[in-house]
Amino acid sequence: AEKRRGGFSSRKIFVFAAIGSAVGLGNIWRFPYVAYENGGGSFMIPYLTALLVAGIPFLFFDYAIGHITRGSSPLAMRRLGKRNEFIGWWHVIICFVIAVYYAAILAWAAQFTIFSFTKKWGDDPEAFMFGEFLKTADANAGVTFEFVPAVLIPMVLVWLAVIVVMTLGVQKGIGATAVIFIPLLVVAFVWLVIQSLFLPGAVDGINALFTPEWSKLADPTVWTAAVGQIFFSLSVGFAIMITYASYVKRKTDMTGSGLVVGFANSGFELLAGIGVFAALGFLATAQNVAVGDVATSGLVLAFVAFPTILNEAPMGELLGVLFFGSLFIAGVTSLISIVEVVISAFRDKFELGRVQATLLVTIPIALVSIILLSTTSGLNVLDIADRFINQYGIVLAAVVSIIALGWFGRKLPMFAKHLSQYGSFKLGRVWVAIVAFVLPIALIALLLQSFLIEISAPYAGYPQWLINIFGWGVAAGAIVLGFLLSLMPWNKAVSLELPEPAH
Ligand code: PHE
Ligand code: NA
Repeated sequence: AEKRRGGFSSRKIFVFAAIGSAVGLGNIWRFPYVAYENGGGSFMIPYLTALLVAGIPFLFFDYAIGHITRGSSPLAMRRLGKRNEFIGWWHVIICFVIAVYYAAILAWAAQFTIFSFTKKWGDDPEAFMFGEFLKTADANAGVTFEFVPAVLIPMVLVWLAVIVVMTLGVQKGIGATAVIFIPLLVVAFVWLVIQSLFLPGAVDGINALFTPEWSKLADPTVWTAAVGQIFFSLSVGFAIMITYASYVKRKTDMTGSGLVVGFANSGFELLAGIGVFAALGFLATAQNVAVGDVATSGLVLAFVAFPTILNEAPMGELLGVLFFGSLFIAGVTSLISIVEVVISAFRDKFELGRVQATLLVTIPIALVSIILLSTTSGLNVLDIADRFINQYGIVLAAVVSIIALGWFGRKLPMFAKHLSQYGSFKLGRVWVAIVAFVLPIALIALLLQSFLIEISAPYAGYPQWLINIFGWGVAAGAIVLGFLLSLMPWNKAVSLELPEPAH
Protein backbone atom coordinates (compact mmCIF):
# COMPACT_ATOMS: atom_id res chain seq x y z
CA ALA A 1 0.00 0.00 0.00
CA GLU A 2 2.87 2.32 0.79
CA LYS A 3 4.31 1.93 -2.68
CA ARG A 4 0.98 2.82 -4.18
CA ARG A 5 0.72 6.10 -2.26
CA GLY A 6 4.05 7.25 -3.65
CA GLY A 7 6.76 9.03 -1.71
CA PHE A 8 9.89 11.17 -1.79
CA SER A 9 12.93 9.28 -3.00
CA SER A 10 15.27 10.89 -0.48
CA ARG A 11 15.45 13.14 2.52
CA LYS A 12 16.92 15.88 0.36
CA ILE A 13 13.89 15.94 -1.94
CA PHE A 14 11.57 16.08 1.06
CA VAL A 15 13.50 19.00 2.53
CA PHE A 16 13.31 20.85 -0.79
CA ALA A 17 9.57 20.24 -1.03
CA ALA A 18 9.03 21.32 2.58
CA ILE A 19 11.03 24.49 2.03
CA GLY A 20 9.05 25.06 -1.14
CA SER A 21 5.84 24.92 0.84
CA ALA A 22 7.09 27.10 3.66
CA VAL A 23 8.68 29.81 1.55
CA GLY A 24 5.77 31.68 0.05
CA LEU A 25 4.08 35.02 -0.18
CA GLY A 26 4.30 35.31 3.60
CA ASN A 27 8.08 35.57 3.49
CA ILE A 28 8.17 38.22 0.83
CA TRP A 29 5.25 40.47 1.55
CA ARG A 30 4.24 39.71 5.12
CA PHE A 31 7.39 39.36 7.19
CA PRO A 32 9.13 42.65 6.32
CA TYR A 33 6.22 44.80 7.42
CA VAL A 34 5.35 42.72 10.49
CA ALA A 35 8.95 43.07 11.64
CA TYR A 36 9.03 46.79 10.92
CA GLU A 37 5.74 47.48 12.70
CA ASN A 38 6.58 45.46 15.77
CA GLY A 39 9.84 47.01 16.77
CA GLY A 40 12.23 46.46 13.85
CA GLY A 41 15.58 45.25 15.16
CA SER A 42 14.15 44.43 18.58
CA PHE A 43 11.49 42.28 16.91
CA MET A 44 14.22 39.71 16.30
CA ILE A 45 13.95 38.69 19.96
CA PRO A 46 10.25 37.71 19.96
CA TYR A 47 10.65 36.42 16.41
CA LEU A 48 13.52 34.05 17.19
CA THR A 49 11.86 33.04 20.43
CA ALA A 50 8.69 32.19 18.53
CA LEU A 51 10.69 30.24 15.96
CA LEU A 52 12.47 28.15 18.58
CA VAL A 53 9.70 27.80 21.15
CA ALA A 54 6.63 27.59 18.92
CA GLY A 55 7.47 27.12 15.24
CA ILE A 56 10.05 24.36 15.22
CA PRO A 57 8.45 22.31 18.03
CA PHE A 58 5.18 22.51 16.12
CA LEU A 59 6.91 21.43 12.93
CA PHE A 60 8.14 18.33 14.79
CA PHE A 61 4.59 17.65 15.99
CA ASP A 62 3.30 17.70 12.40
CA TYR A 63 6.20 15.59 11.16
CA ALA A 64 5.55 13.01 13.86
CA ILE A 65 1.86 12.72 12.96
CA GLY A 66 2.55 12.15 9.26
CA HIS A 67 5.68 10.08 9.62
CA ILE A 68 4.33 7.66 12.22
CA THR A 69 0.91 7.14 10.68
CA ARG A 70 2.06 7.23 7.04
CA GLY A 71 -1.23 8.79 6.02
CA SER A 72 -2.81 11.97 4.72
CA SER A 73 -4.30 14.14 7.45
CA PRO A 74 -7.66 12.29 7.77
CA LEU A 75 -6.02 8.87 7.71
CA ALA A 76 -3.31 10.03 10.10
CA MET A 77 -5.88 11.39 12.54
CA ARG A 78 -8.02 8.27 12.20
CA ARG A 79 -5.08 6.02 12.89
CA LEU A 80 -4.36 8.03 16.03
CA GLY A 81 -7.90 7.66 17.34
CA LYS A 82 -11.34 7.10 15.93
CA ARG A 83 -12.81 10.39 17.05
CA ASN A 84 -10.00 12.47 15.58
CA GLU A 85 -10.80 11.94 11.94
CA PHE A 86 -12.93 15.06 11.58
CA ILE A 87 -9.86 17.20 12.34
CA GLY A 88 -8.17 15.77 9.28
CA TRP A 89 -11.12 16.60 7.04
CA TRP A 90 -11.37 20.04 8.59
CA HIS A 91 -7.74 20.49 7.48
CA VAL A 92 -8.70 19.32 4.01
CA ILE A 93 -11.47 21.90 3.66
CA ILE A 94 -9.16 24.63 4.96
CA CYS A 95 -6.67 23.70 2.25
CA PHE A 96 -9.43 23.69 -0.34
CA VAL A 97 -10.33 27.27 0.63
CA ILE A 98 -6.74 28.50 0.67
CA ALA A 99 -6.02 26.92 -2.72
CA VAL A 100 -9.05 28.73 -4.17
CA TYR A 101 -7.66 32.18 -3.47
CA TYR A 102 -3.91 31.50 -3.43
CA ALA A 103 -4.08 30.63 -7.14
CA ALA A 104 -5.49 34.08 -7.92
CA ILE A 105 -2.48 35.83 -6.39
CA LEU A 106 -0.19 33.61 -8.44
CA ALA A 107 -2.08 34.54 -11.58
CA TRP A 108 -1.66 38.24 -10.78
CA ALA A 109 2.05 37.74 -10.12
CA ALA A 110 2.42 35.94 -13.45
CA GLN A 111 0.65 38.80 -15.23
CA PHE A 112 2.79 41.41 -13.50
CA THR A 113 5.96 39.52 -14.47
CA ILE A 114 4.93 40.09 -18.07
CA PHE A 115 3.73 43.64 -17.38
CA SER A 116 7.21 44.42 -16.01
CA PHE A 117 8.74 44.34 -19.49
CA THR A 118 6.71 47.38 -20.52
CA LYS A 119 5.77 48.76 -17.09
CA LYS A 120 2.22 48.36 -18.19
CA TRP A 121 0.87 49.75 -14.89
CA GLY A 122 1.72 53.29 -16.04
CA ASP A 123 2.01 56.35 -13.82
CA ASP A 124 -0.66 55.41 -11.31
CA PRO A 125 -0.08 51.79 -10.23
CA GLU A 126 -2.86 51.91 -7.64
CA ALA A 127 -5.50 52.92 -10.15
CA PHE A 128 -4.10 50.32 -12.53
CA MET A 129 -4.14 47.42 -10.05
CA PHE A 130 -7.58 47.88 -8.54
CA GLY A 131 -9.21 49.61 -11.49
CA GLU A 132 -7.91 48.74 -14.92
CA PHE A 133 -6.50 45.32 -14.03
CA LEU A 134 -8.77 43.77 -11.38
CA LYS A 135 -11.76 46.03 -12.14
CA THR A 136 -12.67 45.64 -8.48
CA ALA A 137 -16.37 46.04 -7.75
CA ASP A 138 -17.72 47.82 -4.69
CA ALA A 139 -17.88 45.45 -1.72
CA ASN A 140 -21.63 45.97 -1.43
CA ALA A 141 -22.12 44.39 -4.83
CA GLY A 142 -21.44 40.93 -3.36
CA VAL A 143 -20.39 38.23 -5.82
CA THR A 144 -20.69 39.71 -9.29
CA PHE A 145 -19.91 36.90 -11.76
CA GLU A 146 -18.53 39.58 -14.07
CA PHE A 147 -15.40 37.94 -15.39
CA VAL A 148 -12.16 39.80 -15.96
CA PRO A 149 -10.34 38.18 -18.91
CA ALA A 150 -6.91 39.51 -17.88
CA VAL A 151 -7.25 37.55 -14.63
CA LEU A 152 -9.26 34.64 -15.97
CA ILE A 153 -6.69 33.56 -18.56
CA PRO A 154 -3.65 33.35 -16.26
CA MET A 155 -5.79 31.65 -13.61
CA VAL A 156 -6.77 28.94 -16.09
CA LEU A 157 -3.10 28.52 -17.01
CA VAL A 158 -2.03 28.31 -13.35
CA TRP A 159 -4.59 25.60 -12.70
CA LEU A 160 -3.60 23.64 -15.80
CA ALA A 161 0.02 23.72 -14.64
CA VAL A 162 -0.99 22.57 -11.16
CA ILE A 163 -2.98 19.68 -12.62
CA VAL A 164 0.01 18.56 -14.69
CA VAL A 165 2.38 18.69 -11.71
CA MET A 166 -0.03 16.90 -9.39
CA THR A 167 -0.71 14.18 -11.94
CA LEU A 168 3.00 13.43 -12.07
CA GLY A 169 2.90 12.48 -8.42
CA VAL A 170 4.85 13.01 -5.23
CA GLN A 171 8.37 12.44 -6.51
CA LYS A 172 8.18 13.40 -10.19
CA GLY A 173 5.67 16.19 -9.71
CA ILE A 174 6.02 17.81 -6.28
CA GLY A 175 9.63 16.79 -5.64
CA ALA A 176 10.92 17.69 -9.08
CA THR A 177 9.17 21.06 -9.07
CA ALA A 178 10.78 21.95 -5.75
CA VAL A 179 14.22 20.79 -6.83
CA ILE A 180 14.06 23.05 -9.90
CA PHE A 181 12.19 26.02 -8.47
CA ILE A 182 13.83 26.49 -5.08
CA PRO A 183 17.36 27.05 -6.45
CA LEU A 184 15.87 29.24 -9.17
CA LEU A 185 14.05 31.25 -6.51
CA VAL A 186 17.20 31.68 -4.46
CA VAL A 187 19.15 32.91 -7.49
CA ALA A 188 16.42 35.32 -8.63
CA PHE A 189 15.79 36.65 -5.16
CA VAL A 190 19.42 37.10 -4.16
CA TRP A 191 19.99 38.92 -7.43
CA LEU A 192 17.02 41.16 -6.70
CA VAL A 193 18.23 41.94 -3.18
CA ILE A 194 21.73 42.77 -4.38
CA GLN A 195 20.36 45.07 -7.06
CA SER A 196 18.12 46.76 -4.51
CA LEU A 197 21.06 47.44 -2.22
CA PHE A 198 22.57 49.69 -4.88
CA LEU A 199 19.49 51.89 -5.16
CA PRO A 200 19.93 55.36 -3.66
CA GLY A 201 18.28 55.46 -0.23
CA ALA A 202 18.52 51.69 0.26
CA VAL A 203 20.47 52.15 3.48
CA ASP A 204 17.75 54.36 4.94
CA GLY A 205 15.21 51.65 4.31
CA ILE A 206 17.34 48.97 5.94
CA ASN A 207 18.00 51.26 8.90
CA ALA A 208 14.28 51.83 9.27
CA LEU A 209 13.73 48.08 9.33
CA PHE A 210 16.45 47.22 11.81
CA THR A 211 16.39 50.20 14.18
CA PRO A 212 15.26 48.64 17.45
CA GLU A 213 12.40 49.95 19.54
CA TRP A 214 13.13 48.18 22.78
CA SER A 215 10.04 49.48 24.55
CA LYS A 216 7.92 47.41 22.18
CA LEU A 217 9.13 44.24 23.89
CA ALA A 218 6.76 45.07 26.74
CA ASP A 219 3.79 45.04 24.37
CA PRO A 220 2.12 41.61 24.34
CA THR A 221 0.72 42.14 20.84
CA VAL A 222 4.30 42.19 19.55
CA TRP A 223 4.76 38.68 20.90
CA THR A 224 1.52 37.39 19.43
CA ALA A 225 2.51 38.99 16.13
CA ALA A 226 5.75 37.00 16.24
CA VAL A 227 3.89 33.77 16.91
CA GLY A 228 1.41 34.58 14.15
CA GLN A 229 4.15 35.28 11.65
CA ILE A 230 6.13 32.14 12.45
CA PHE A 231 3.01 30.03 12.44
CA PHE A 232 1.78 31.32 9.09
CA SER A 233 5.20 31.30 7.55
CA LEU A 234 6.16 27.74 8.45
CA SER A 235 2.69 26.51 7.41
CA VAL A 236 2.54 24.47 10.61
CA GLY A 237 -0.33 23.23 12.67
CA PHE A 238 -2.34 21.68 9.93
CA ALA A 239 -2.21 19.17 7.20
CA ILE A 240 0.56 20.30 4.89
CA MET A 241 3.54 19.06 6.85
CA ILE A 242 1.60 16.00 8.01
CA THR A 243 1.01 15.05 4.39
CA TYR A 244 4.58 15.64 3.23
CA ALA A 245 6.01 13.77 6.23
CA SER A 246 3.83 10.78 5.39
CA TYR A 247 5.78 10.46 2.13
CA VAL A 248 9.19 10.23 3.82
CA LYS A 249 10.97 6.89 4.18
CA ARG A 250 10.73 5.40 7.63
CA LYS A 251 14.29 5.55 8.90
CA THR A 252 14.80 9.24 8.22
CA ASP A 253 16.22 12.01 10.36
CA MET A 254 13.08 14.12 10.69
CA THR A 255 14.24 16.48 13.43
CA GLY A 256 17.40 17.44 11.55
CA SER A 257 15.24 18.05 8.48
CA GLY A 258 12.90 20.22 10.51
CA LEU A 259 15.74 22.41 11.71
CA VAL A 260 16.92 22.89 8.14
CA VAL A 261 13.42 23.81 6.96
CA GLY A 262 12.77 26.16 9.88
CA PHE A 263 16.02 28.07 9.52
CA ALA A 264 15.88 28.14 5.72
CA ASN A 265 12.43 29.70 5.87
CA SER A 266 13.48 32.33 8.39
CA GLY A 267 16.67 33.02 6.45
CA PHE A 268 14.61 33.68 3.37
CA GLU A 269 12.37 35.93 5.40
CA LEU A 270 15.26 38.05 6.64
CA LEU A 271 16.64 38.30 3.13
CA ALA A 272 13.24 39.45 1.89
CA GLY A 273 13.09 42.02 4.67
CA ILE A 274 16.38 43.49 3.53
CA GLY A 275 15.38 43.52 -0.13
CA VAL A 276 11.92 44.96 0.43
CA PHE A 277 13.10 47.69 2.78
CA ALA A 278 16.02 48.62 0.55
CA ALA A 279 13.47 49.18 -2.21
CA LEU A 280 11.14 51.08 0.12
CA GLY A 281 14.07 53.25 1.25
CA PHE A 282 14.69 54.11 -2.38
CA LEU A 283 11.03 55.00 -2.86
CA ALA A 284 10.99 57.20 0.24
CA THR A 285 14.12 59.01 -0.95
CA ALA A 286 12.72 59.50 -4.45
CA GLN A 287 9.48 60.91 -3.08
CA ASN A 288 11.19 62.84 -0.32
CA VAL A 289 9.13 61.28 2.47
CA ALA A 290 9.92 59.09 5.49
CA VAL A 291 10.27 55.32 5.02
CA GLY A 292 7.32 54.88 7.39
CA ASP A 293 5.10 56.74 4.93
CA VAL A 294 5.67 54.22 2.15
CA ALA A 295 6.02 50.99 4.18
CA THR A 296 3.15 48.54 3.63
CA SER A 297 2.57 44.84 3.21
CA GLY A 298 0.52 42.36 1.25
CA LEU A 299 -1.19 43.15 -2.00
CA VAL A 300 -0.52 46.86 -1.75
CA LEU A 301 3.19 46.31 -1.24
CA ALA A 302 3.51 43.87 -4.14
CA PHE A 303 1.13 45.33 -6.68
CA VAL A 304 1.12 49.06 -5.88
CA ALA A 305 4.28 50.06 -3.99
CA PHE A 306 6.58 47.84 -6.04
CA PRO A 307 5.36 49.05 -9.43
CA THR A 308 5.83 52.61 -8.15
CA ILE A 309 9.39 51.74 -7.17
CA LEU A 310 10.02 50.10 -10.53
CA ASN A 311 8.80 53.23 -12.31
CA GLU A 312 11.57 55.25 -10.69
CA ALA A 313 14.36 52.70 -10.36
CA PRO A 314 17.15 52.21 -12.89
CA MET A 315 16.63 48.86 -14.65
CA GLY A 316 13.08 48.75 -13.32
CA GLU A 317 12.10 46.20 -15.97
CA LEU A 318 14.70 43.70 -14.77
CA LEU A 319 13.86 44.28 -11.11
CA GLY A 320 10.19 43.78 -11.91
CA VAL A 321 10.76 40.46 -13.62
CA LEU A 322 12.91 39.30 -10.69
CA PHE A 323 10.41 40.47 -8.08
CA PHE A 324 7.19 39.20 -9.62
CA GLY A 325 8.91 36.09 -10.92
CA SER A 326 10.10 35.33 -7.37
CA LEU A 327 6.64 35.94 -5.99
CA PHE A 328 5.23 33.54 -8.55
CA ILE A 329 7.79 30.80 -7.97
CA ALA A 330 7.55 31.08 -4.19
CA GLY A 331 3.78 30.83 -4.46
CA VAL A 332 3.61 27.90 -6.89
CA THR A 333 5.47 25.51 -4.60
CA SER A 334 3.18 26.55 -1.73
CA LEU A 335 0.03 26.10 -3.81
CA ILE A 336 1.16 22.61 -4.80
CA SER A 337 1.57 21.64 -1.16
CA ILE A 338 -1.90 22.92 -0.32
CA VAL A 339 -3.55 21.00 -3.17
CA GLU A 340 -1.67 17.81 -2.28
CA VAL A 341 -3.36 17.76 1.13
CA VAL A 342 -6.73 17.44 -0.57
CA ILE A 343 -5.61 14.94 -3.20
CA SER A 344 -3.89 12.63 -0.77
CA ALA A 345 -6.89 12.67 1.58
CA PHE A 346 -9.29 11.47 -1.10
CA ARG A 347 -6.73 9.05 -2.42
CA ASP A 348 -6.32 7.43 0.97
CA LYS A 349 -10.00 7.32 1.81
CA PHE A 350 -11.21 5.78 -1.44
CA GLU A 351 -8.05 4.03 -2.63
CA LEU A 352 -8.04 6.11 -5.81
CA GLY A 353 -5.24 6.15 -8.36
CA ARG A 354 -3.02 9.19 -8.62
CA VAL A 355 -4.48 10.56 -11.84
CA GLN A 356 -8.03 9.78 -10.85
CA ALA A 357 -7.69 11.52 -7.47
CA THR A 358 -5.91 14.50 -8.99
CA LEU A 359 -8.66 15.13 -11.49
CA LEU A 360 -11.46 14.43 -9.03
CA VAL A 361 -10.05 16.94 -6.56
CA THR A 362 -8.28 19.58 -8.60
CA ILE A 363 -10.95 20.25 -11.19
CA PRO A 364 -13.58 21.27 -8.61
CA ILE A 365 -11.04 23.45 -6.74
CA ALA A 366 -10.00 25.04 -10.02
CA LEU A 367 -13.59 25.73 -11.03
CA VAL A 368 -14.55 27.33 -7.72
CA SER A 369 -11.31 29.29 -7.79
CA ILE A 370 -11.82 30.57 -11.31
CA ILE A 371 -15.51 31.35 -10.85
CA LEU A 372 -15.09 33.26 -7.59
CA LEU A 373 -11.72 34.90 -8.05
CA SER A 374 -11.51 35.96 -11.68
CA THR A 375 -14.50 38.26 -11.37
CA THR A 376 -14.74 41.89 -10.35
CA SER A 377 -15.60 40.76 -6.81
CA GLY A 378 -12.60 38.43 -6.52
CA LEU A 379 -10.43 40.77 -4.47
CA ASN A 380 -13.05 41.29 -1.76
CA VAL A 381 -13.71 37.57 -1.43
CA LEU A 382 -10.00 36.85 -1.20
CA ASP A 383 -9.32 39.47 1.41
CA ILE A 384 -12.03 38.27 3.78
CA ALA A 385 -11.56 34.53 3.27
CA ASP A 386 -7.81 34.85 3.84
CA ARG A 387 -8.19 36.60 7.16
CA PHE A 388 -10.85 34.26 8.55
CA ILE A 389 -9.56 30.92 7.33
CA ASN A 390 -6.16 31.70 8.80
CA GLN A 391 -7.43 32.76 12.22
CA TYR A 392 -10.52 30.61 12.72
CA GLY A 393 -9.39 27.77 10.50
CA ILE A 394 -5.67 27.10 10.77
CA VAL A 395 -5.01 28.50 14.24
CA LEU A 396 -8.16 27.04 15.76
CA ALA A 397 -7.58 23.62 14.16
CA ALA A 398 -4.04 23.66 15.54
CA VAL A 399 -5.30 24.17 19.08
CA VAL A 400 -7.91 21.44 18.65
CA SER A 401 -5.38 18.96 17.31
CA ILE A 402 -3.05 19.52 20.27
CA ILE A 403 -5.89 19.03 22.69
CA ALA A 404 -7.11 15.90 20.88
CA LEU A 405 -3.75 14.22 20.35
CA GLY A 406 -1.70 15.66 23.18
CA TRP A 407 -4.13 16.02 26.05
CA PHE A 408 -6.77 13.36 25.41
CA GLY A 409 -4.75 11.00 23.25
CA ARG A 410 -1.52 11.34 25.28
CA LYS A 411 0.48 10.70 22.14
CA LEU A 412 3.31 13.19 22.71
CA PRO A 413 5.76 10.87 24.50
CA MET A 414 5.33 8.35 21.68
CA PHE A 415 5.91 11.10 19.11
CA ALA A 416 9.09 12.21 20.89
CA LYS A 417 10.38 8.66 21.03
CA HIS A 418 9.67 8.11 17.34
CA LEU A 419 11.36 11.30 16.19
CA SER A 420 14.36 10.70 18.44
CA GLN A 421 15.00 7.21 17.13
CA TYR A 422 16.47 8.31 13.83
CA GLY A 423 16.53 12.05 14.45
CA SER A 424 19.85 13.82 14.88
CA PHE A 425 18.18 16.22 17.30
CA LYS A 426 16.63 14.32 20.22
CA LEU A 427 13.32 15.26 21.77
CA GLY A 428 12.30 14.67 25.34
CA ARG A 429 10.16 16.07 28.09
CA VAL A 430 10.93 19.67 27.25
CA TRP A 431 9.45 19.24 23.81
CA VAL A 432 6.38 17.47 25.20
CA ALA A 433 5.82 20.29 27.68
CA ILE A 434 6.20 22.92 24.98
CA VAL A 435 3.70 21.27 22.68
CA ALA A 436 1.21 20.45 25.42
CA PHE A 437 1.25 23.79 27.23
CA VAL A 438 3.24 26.58 25.62
CA LEU A 439 1.78 26.16 22.13
CA PRO A 440 -1.89 26.13 23.15
CA ILE A 441 -1.39 29.18 25.36
CA ALA A 442 0.37 31.10 22.58
CA LEU A 443 -2.23 30.14 20.00
CA ILE A 444 -5.20 30.88 22.22
CA ALA A 445 -3.72 34.31 22.95
CA LEU A 446 -3.44 34.85 19.21
CA LEU A 447 -7.05 33.78 18.68
CA LEU A 448 -8.41 35.96 21.45
CA GLN A 449 -6.54 38.96 20.19
CA SER A 450 -7.92 38.67 16.68
CA PHE A 451 -11.38 37.88 18.00
CA LEU A 452 -11.39 41.13 19.98
CA ILE A 453 -10.44 43.00 16.83
CA GLU A 454 -13.19 41.20 14.89
CA ILE A 455 -15.95 42.22 17.27
CA SER A 456 -14.74 45.81 17.61
CA ALA A 457 -15.33 46.65 13.94
CA PRO A 458 -16.09 44.80 10.69
CA TYR A 459 -12.84 43.54 9.18
CA ALA A 460 -11.28 46.14 6.85
CA GLY A 461 -14.60 47.99 6.67
CA TYR A 462 -16.34 45.34 4.57
CA PRO A 463 -20.16 45.06 4.87
CA GLN A 464 -21.07 42.73 7.72
CA TRP A 465 -23.13 40.39 5.54
CA LEU A 466 -20.16 39.81 3.21
CA ILE A 467 -18.00 39.01 6.25
CA ASN A 468 -20.67 36.66 7.53
CA ILE A 469 -20.61 34.68 4.28
CA PHE A 470 -16.97 34.64 3.25
CA GLY A 471 -15.49 35.04 6.72
CA TRP A 472 -17.48 33.37 9.50
CA GLY A 473 -19.46 31.29 7.03
CA VAL A 474 -16.40 29.81 5.38
CA ALA A 475 -14.60 29.20 8.68
CA ALA A 476 -17.65 27.52 10.26
CA GLY A 477 -18.47 25.70 7.02
CA ALA A 478 -15.03 24.10 7.07
CA ILE A 479 -15.78 22.56 10.47
CA VAL A 480 -19.25 21.33 9.51
CA LEU A 481 -18.17 19.98 6.15
CA GLY A 482 -15.09 18.40 7.71
CA PHE A 483 -17.31 16.61 10.19
CA LEU A 484 -19.65 15.37 7.46
CA LEU A 485 -16.78 14.08 5.32
CA SER A 486 -15.43 12.16 8.30
CA LEU A 487 -18.69 10.17 8.40
CA MET A 488 -18.08 8.64 4.98
CA PRO A 489 -16.99 5.00 5.10
CA TRP A 490 -13.39 4.06 4.33
CA ASN A 491 -12.57 1.84 1.40
CA LYS A 492 -12.40 -1.72 2.75
CA ALA A 493 -8.80 -2.16 1.65
CA VAL A 494 -7.52 0.64 3.91
CA SER A 495 -6.07 -0.39 7.24
CA LEU A 496 -7.07 1.98 10.02
CA GLU A 497 -4.46 0.59 12.40
CA LEU A 498 -1.27 2.41 13.26
CA PRO A 499 1.55 0.90 11.13
CA GLU A 500 4.20 -1.15 12.91
CA PRO A 501 7.23 0.97 13.84
CA ALA A 502 10.42 0.49 11.82
CA HIS A 503 13.20 -1.54 13.41
N1 PHE B 1 3.90 29.40 4.46
C1 PHE B 1 3.47 30.17 3.34
C2 PHE B 1 4.13 31.52 3.31
O1 PHE B 1 4.93 31.87 4.11
C3 PHE B 1 2.03 30.45 3.30
C4 PHE B 1 1.13 29.31 3.39
C5 PHE B 1 0.19 29.28 4.36
C6 PHE B 1 1.25 28.29 2.51
C7 PHE B 1 -0.65 28.24 4.45
C8 PHE B 1 0.41 27.23 2.59
C9 PHE B 1 -0.55 27.21 3.56
O2 PHE B 1 3.83 32.28 2.45
NA1 NA C 1 7.01 31.12 4.83
